[in-house]
Amino acid sequence: MIVKTFAHAASVAAFVVAATLAYPQTSPAVLTIHADQPVSKVSPTLYGLMTEEINYSYDGGLYAEMVRNRTFGASWDGIQHWTLVEYGNADAAIAPDKETGPSEALKSSLRIDVKQADPNSQAGVLNDGWWGVPLRPNTTYKGSFYAKASAGDLGPVKVSLVSNNTGKSVATAEVSGVATDWKQYEFTLKMGAIQPSAANHLALTVGHAGTLWLNLVSLFPPTYHDRANGNRIDLMEKLAAMNPAFLRFPGGNYLEGDHIPERYPWKKTIGPLVDRPTHPSPWRYHSSDGLGLLEFLEWCEDLKMQPVLAVYAGYSMAQEHVNPGADLDPYVQDALDELEYVTGGSETKWGAVRAQNGHPQPFKLNYVEIGNEDMFDKSGSYEGRYAQFYKAIKAKYHDLQLIATMPVKDMRPDVVDDHYYVRATQFFKDANHYDKTDRSGPKIFVGEWATREGAPTPNFGAALGDAAWMTGMERNSDIVVMAAYAPLLVNVNPGGMQWETDLIGYDAMRSFGSPSYYAQVLFAKYLGDQTVKAELKNGGPKFFYSITGNTAKKKLYLKLVNASSDPQPLEIDLTGARVAANAKLESLSAPDTQTTNTLDDPNRIVPVETTLHNVGSQFHHTLPGFSIQVIEFDEQ
Ligand code: AHR
Repeated sequence: MIVKTFAHAASVAAFVVAATLAYPQTSPAVLTIHADQPVSKVSPTLYGLMTEEINYSYDGGLYAEMVRNRTFGASWDGIQHWTLVEYGNADAAIAPDKETGPSEALKSSLRIDVKQADPNSQAGVLNDGWWGVPLRPNTTYKGSFYAKASAGDLGPVKVSLVSNNTGKSVATAEVSGVATDWKQYEFTLKMGAIQPSAANHLALTVGHAGTLWLNLVSLFPPTYHDRANGNRIDLMEKLAAMNPAFLRFPGGNYLEGDHIPERYPWKKTIGPLVDRPTHPSPWRYHSSDGLGLLEFLEWCEDLKMQPVLAVYAGYSMAQEHVNPGADLDPYVQDALDELEYVTGGSETKWGAVRAQNGHPQPFKLNYVEIGNEDMFDKSGSYEGRYAQFYKAIKAKYHDLQLIATMPVKDMRPDVVDDHYYVRATQFFKDANHYDKTDRSGPKIFVGEWATREGAPTPNFGAALGDAAWMTGMERNSDIVVMAAYAPLLVNVNPGGMQWETDLIGYDAMRSFGSPSYYAQVLFAKYLGDQTVKAELKNGGPKFFYSITGNTAKKKLYLKLVNASSDPQPLEIDLTGARVAANAKLESLSAPDTQTTNTLDDPNRIVPVETTLHNVGSQFHHTLPGFSIQVIEFDEQ
């Protein structure tokens, strides 16, 4: 032991000399890893996703619908995103019609009165899409609309995808025989060898005089796993690469709404789209609810995530709350119905509804969150509200883990949700936050966290703050059972963002991961099931690490974060395991903290994989300034 210590000290001394010559300002840190001494368990659900309708995350984002305002919501300046078209000599007018619609949920429609039109001079409407209508070559788009006509003489409805630049159709379809009562019609549009572009619009026109009413005009590209009413492939692939263990939904503020009637109305988000009335969201735009409760659950299924379902708990953000007691009972019942919809067999009332909606198999649910950020409820009603939900849910679902959104005194929650939106320096200073947390208390869910530096997406300085924070969460993952960055998604078009610093950016055609996204990908990809003992000497204030191992897989994962501009020389002293001489190194780094990824430059900062040679019980490694690295050791 003494000899070893001496040898170790000697090698440190030699290293100090070498490193001092190469890097005069930074002395080496010494990291001693005891690979055979596990310290604590790492939660298998540590890394997951948090999501809500914000920044056009679903509508105009993940949800692949290409038609904007498909149910013809109107404001003082008209029917948004729909424009009258009168080709040639056509003469027509459009207006919202509150008197007729295809369903109880969609009681109104767009009315098109065509005074004059012929097959060569058509009249109708166009939709400009979600900042464009993205079209790709040799791709099939499937569409539908609900319609009725004043008489059977309108002729076919022509559906065209038209290039904004040339005014020419790139694909057309015809729907004949529109009846005088509401019916749904389907069409398919096939692209040829076009140039990929979002500079297109969708047009629906007729070539005869008469009146046409429309609602729920929809167009979908191919979707992830080919789901009807499904999600964008590029975004789902980016999420899949994060290896997420869970999805927290539907919010966030989106769960609460500004006012009680604007809370997340889960019962109105299920079933056929024509039966979904849509609802106002707190993020200043209306939600189509095309991505509704069942679609959230299918999203979980597609990415093999477990749902972490947040139920509305009687508080909305304009300081409106429901008093605990009889007033709250209907809200508790609504949550119980929701849990039955998610987990109940087809013999149960709400399980049967789910089966009817196309998913007979119940979903597995372990965690339910009661509310969101209830510390903002100045009335102090959360204690009572939480207790009422807790008792009712536990009485029926004993094994469910219930998450409180703030500490509660009277009833010990299973888990408490902590949120952090901070600057990088705060995460550097607070990376030990959970080191001293009482292990006998509730578990922790860091349900929202982010370094807020960079807009719309984080820069590399933010990624460093995030990575430092993640080392602390991993080290404390016996108590921090789940964590999720927020917000996850942002449409980077002008007007798309309501909240700065979001993990993944996109427009209609393209998407990119921020540096923080790639830090998350790395941290989730290389995660053991236990932390192992380690000591660091001489690490600078901006140097962080985490070491986890997986005995069954014979892997050790060392994560290193150097948030300093100077390189960080490091001597690694690895005891308690023999490791292969070559180790995998994935490295994410940038020349400065401001550098970032964008739509036009999506791969500026991405992990680079190399091999570290001659690793062993003692070896030297230098982290570049501003770098996040993971070393994967194979134990022998
Ligand atoms: O992530 C953005 C918002 O931040 C969430 O909706 C809310 O829970 C938090 O205040």
